[in-house]
Amino acid sequence: MNSFIERDKIIALDKSEFTYEIRFLEQQDLQNILELQNLIVSHLINPEIFQTNDEKFIINIFHTQEEIIGIFIQQELIAYLMVDIPSKEEDNLGIDIAVPHNELDKVAHLDNVVVHPIFRGFSFQLKLQSHAINIIKNKGYYHICSTVSPYNYPSLYNLLQSGLFIKALKPKYGGKIRYVCHQNMKKISEIQTNSVIPVMNTDFDQQKALLQQDYCGYRIEKQQNEIFIVNYGRPKRVVPK
Ligand SMILES: CC(C)(COP(=O)(O)OP(=O)(O)OC[C@H]1O[C@@H](n2cnc3c(N)ncnc32)[C@H](O)[C@@H]1OP(=O)(O)O)[C@@H](O)C(=O)NCCC(=O)NCCS
Repeated sequence: MNSFIERDKIIALDKSEFTYEIRFLEQQDLQNILELQNLIVSHLINPEIFQTNDEKFIINIFHTQEEIIGIFIQQELIAYLMVDIPSKEEDNLGIDIAVPHNELDKVAHLDNVVVHPIFRGFSFQLKLQSHAINIIKNKGYYHICSTVSPYNYPSLYNLLQSGLFIKALKPKYGGKIRYVCHQNMKKISEIQTNSVIPVMNTDFDQQKALLQQDYCGYRIEKQQNEIFIVNYGRPKRVVPK
């Protein structure tokens, strides 16, 4: 299999230039994935926002339809994103946001994404997501789902930038509060901008009430640290893609 996806350059603040390469990861990358995951965990200010994956979970990805795509700089793995294809059982995020039962086998998850702290701020999450969404669509899946902590501004910002909307707010992974984000790539929804209601990310009650009335979170505005405003609006259906 040709694992190459993209090669390009970034220019750091001190004007130094780095070439990065994006490719599909394979089982031989396992140790690098685990090492990068450990490094990410050791740098977390709020451990609540990141759910680690164990070795068994990662190895399983290499033996299924699922993928991990990674970014290398000078042969070092500095970022990765996992694409997970759930079964039709309870781990399927489509269930959380009421995807019809007969479409649950069209759900793909954007799972863990990490970027090495030294290389943050170059939109690598967004780049990985954009490749992942194309890969998912090419495999015939069209419900893209992902979970993210309501305290994880950069990751939520990037998910919304990729066109996903917040569709639910609930405890996941043994009680950790998470937004469940989703977009149907076949019938992309847009927000009616005359119905926008801004809510603090920490106001879970109001967000849950709006989500129950079919509002979706679609844009966020930074305030300070982990505090930000989430704009909710009612979706309108647009012509199928
Ligand atoms: C979420 C994450 C992947 C985003 O990395 P990224 O693609 O480099 O982020 P962006 O390029 O969109 O960064 C945009 C801005 O946010 C800042 N930023 C990114 N991640 C940040 C973080 N964890 N803490 C504070 N600021 C952060 C960047 O420096 C940049 O600021 P600038 O515009 O002033 O340069 C990365 O922060 C990360 O690995 N976090 C830990 C793991 C995690 O939470 N993953 C998501 C859940 S699985």
